[in-house]
Amino acid sequence: MTDAILLQREGGLLTLQLNRPDKKNALTRAMYTQLAEALEQADADSGIRAVLIQGSNECFTAGNDIADFLEQPPSDLDSPPFHFMKSLLNCRKPVIAAVAGAAVGIGTTLLLHCDLVYISRDARLRMPFVNLGLCPEFGSSLILPRLLGHAKAAELLLLGEGFTGEQAAAWGIATEAMGSGEAALVKAREVAQRFETLAPGAVQVSKQLMKSVDREQLRQVIEVEGALFVQRLKSPEAIAALSGFIARR
Ligand code: COA
Repeated sequence: MTDAILLQREGGLLTLQLNRPDKKNALTRAMYTQLAEALEQADADSGIRAVLIQGSNECFTAGNDIADFLEQPPSDLDSPPFHFMKSLLNCRKPVIAAVAGAAVGIGTTLLLHCDLVYISRDARLRMPFVNLGLCPEFGSSLILPRLLGHAKAAELLLLGEGFTGEQAAAWGIATEAMGSGEAALVKAREVAQRFETLAPGAVQVSKQLMKSVDREQLRQVIEVEGALFVQRLKSPEAIAALSGFIARR
């Protein structure tokens, strides 16, 4: 267990808070495993109606811990980041995200698999996979071109251009952009609590219906992306870029 993930249960709501402020909530292997296990328990526990994922009102997450990527890169599709994303994809309960500040790498990708996303207008999102010698992950190479068209998605995935919370909401990546990080966290909590009053069976069947059409194709794409991502982590391009990040700090 690590206090880098804080778990809080209030009634039917489970909150998973990323809490590693000195490293901008960058996700380590231990953090992924704890998140995965919490999501699996939430899925199995009939008392839990919804899961809220949040960072602080200043930072969501800087993505995968870059030192971890160099020292203990995921070697197969059962490695901790894959375990976490599989639990998120398989979670039958609604998952709500509250985002403020930086949401980088998997911090952006994971939002594509949440049900409702409340974000501060000035949040800074970015998927710098190519910039790090890597490639898109967890279905983003399928979902983003569909959502935005190839030309816009290419700007985000090939150039690694950053974008704001306001843009994320305008493009359908987030549900609503709020005036501040605090407002995004408050709104996400209020919405997540509404699931206490909604019929859980109806919510789960409806979520399943919304996700089922693309499920098989998404699974296949994620498998291909995952295998390439694991390969790319060992490439000289990625090792140079990731080592450069560490060296600059
Ligand atoms: N992995 C490991 N450590 C990270 C990290 C990451 N992904 N992102 C930030 N950190 C660490 C920094 O090394 C620094 O640690 P230090 O104080 O011990 O040197 C600390 O967090 C603060 O980061 P800093 O860059 O000074 O904060 P900032 O507010 O100027 O910028 C970010 C925040 C998120 C924009 C910037 O840190 C960043 O771009 N991080 C890399 C994100 C990334 O590429 N993730 C994708 C991985 S696939």
